[in-house]
Amino acid sequence: MCGIVGYIGDKKATPILIDGLSKLEYRGYDSAGIAVFRDNDVHVEKYKGRLSVLADNVKDKDYDGTIGIGHTRWATHGAPSDENSHPHTNQSGNIAVIHNGIIENYMKIKEWLIEEKGVTFRSETDTEVIAHLIDYHYEGDLLDAVFKSIEKMEGAYAIGVVCKDEPDKIVAVRKDSPLIVGLGKGENFLASDIPAILKHTRDIFLIENDEVVLLTKEKVTIFNELRQVQAREVYKVTWDVESAEKEGYEHFMIKEIHEQPKGIHETLHRRLNKEGIIELDGIKITKEDLEGINRVYIVACGTAYHAGLVGKYAIEKFAKIPVICDIASEFRYRDPFIDENTLFIAVSQSGETLDTLAALREAKRKGARILSVVNVVGSSVARESHDVFYTWAGPEIAVASTKAYTTQQTAMYMIALHMGLTKGALSRERYDEIIAELGTMPEKVQSILDDFSAVQHLADTQFNNESVFFMGRGLDIDVANEGSLKLKEISYINSFAIAAGELKHGTIALIEDGTLVMALATQDRLYEKMLSNIKEVKARGAYVVAIAKEGNKEVEKSADTVIYIPDTMDELTPILSVIPQQLFSYYVAVARGCDVDKPRNLAKSVTVE
Ligand code: AGP
Repeated sequence: MCGIVGYIGDKKATPILIDGLSKLEYRGYDSAGIAVFRDNDVHVEKYKGRLSVLADNVKDKDYDGTIGIGHTRWATHGAPSDENSHPHTNQSGNIAVIHNGIIENYMKIKEWLIEEKGVTFRSETDTEVIAHLIDYHYEGDLLDAVFKSIEKMEGAYAIGVVCKDEPDKIVAVRKDSPLIVGLGKGENFLASDIPAILKHTRDIFLIENDEVVLLTKEKVTIFNELRQVQAREVYKVTWDVESAEKEGYEHFMIKEIHEQPKGIHETLHRRLNKEGIIELDGIKITKEDLEGINRVYIVACGTAYHAGLVGKYAIEKFAKIPVICDIASEFRYRDPFIDENTLFIAVSQSGETLDTLAALREAKRKGARILSVVNVVGSSVARESHDVFYTWAGPEIAVASTKAYTTQQTAMYMIALHMGLTKGALSRERYDEIIAELGTMPEKVQSILDDFSAVQHLADTQFNNESVFFMGRGLDIDVANEGSLKLKEISYINSFAIAAGELKHGTIALIEDGTLVMALATQDRLYEKMLSNIKEVKARGAYVVAIAKEGNKEVEKSADTVIYIPDTMDELTPILSVIPQQLFSYYVAVARGCDVDKPRNLAKSVTVE
């Protein structure tokens, strides 16, 4: 949940590190720091707070070093402070370490270092043990000392190390945390994610798990855990740095909300052949496979889990196979019944969420077939799956996920339709009808984005609410969960999503005069039921905002405000009904002066358990 960068070459490292960290701040922004060489010594600058604090502090210090490492932090062990910021060093300060992840056995190592080596620790972090451990093993060969140190470390880590006595190299390690290497001419780069180095190169080495990398300005050498040199194909990045920039929007979130028509179009049309049949990029799920599958699990976290709920509905509806949708952090400790007849679908934007990765490994260990729906190409979840369905949403920078969600929904519909047709559970006629309607989603989303003045007005008048309820029935409750999460995570309003039929069994006690209730009423077969639920909360004084399909005007008689979405079939409304909720959350957060792209206490990909 932190961001790491490294540079080795002939240019001044400091501005390259600071710029790289600015592209990784979505991963954590509690503190930032760099270690750069100057006058044959390693200089560390690290400060609590945003990257700008570090940048202000180093701008007048002419660090001319051409080798350095940098870090932006999401605190796990030790509160945000200067001492707990990275890089961490050994006692003499000649070894500096940056780290993303968690060293699970750090306390044991720390106690051992204190007792055995009388080491004095300056910080409360798990990371500092790495610097002292490398120091303990150091006998003039940094690479060797790093190899010996990682043998003792348990947990998830991507680390970068520099040493005063070996000013011509950077050593890095990857284990269950993202790490890539950028290849330049006479220079090389290290980073947690592509946007940090895309300005300098499109040629990337994707580092595998348990690999150690030695970077010099001329060469990059990759070793496996047995210290054997590994060959690696260069991965060429196709998207451009601009797509990781704001392009005139005030925030990445609103930019990414507006990119949804393109993302959905890309995710859908890249896989429709001339006959209008879905081709799942080399994912071979045959009729026999499907007949063999007796259970589908969809497992994920947060917004991706909410997309999974739509997937459960679609696969059960179109393919007639029972689906269990579970949150990853609970899944693996439930000892779930899984065998070779189980299809396990992991959903993840980043592909690095450790809870989801751990659940995937558990399912794989038990013999399941692993299909993942992922946005980041080459990420861990993708690499550890049997089949991958990439959502083509482009890089998603804002912590609050939006375009990844609607492309994940699109992926879920496509997988369900493919399974339904292949299995013969869905007629070709019905299949074509749904595909055709799915094809209208980009323009229908665009029509909502072309005029959302009603939503903006609502946000401007309702942003002071301290608690908001979302309710719906059927698919609408799945999407209401996402609407509620968006509002919570960026505006810090205590919001709650509930199945409308469940209200009268307790929660309605919380409804009083002026309580804001977002009521999703997009399911025709449940519309009348929703109208009664709206009347129920109105009777307790609630201010009701309904989201309904164009033409369903009956709801205007009971709701205070109605936000209309374009008409479509019930099954596909989730792609449309989430848009006004994303926009509402965004404009409420802006009105409350929140840091929309970097909400407090959150990070873009959660790489610790
Ligand atoms: C959503 O806005 C949040 N950023 C968070 O809930 C996120 O969906 C969750 O952490 C899963 O992330 P992933 O899709 O990268 O696995």
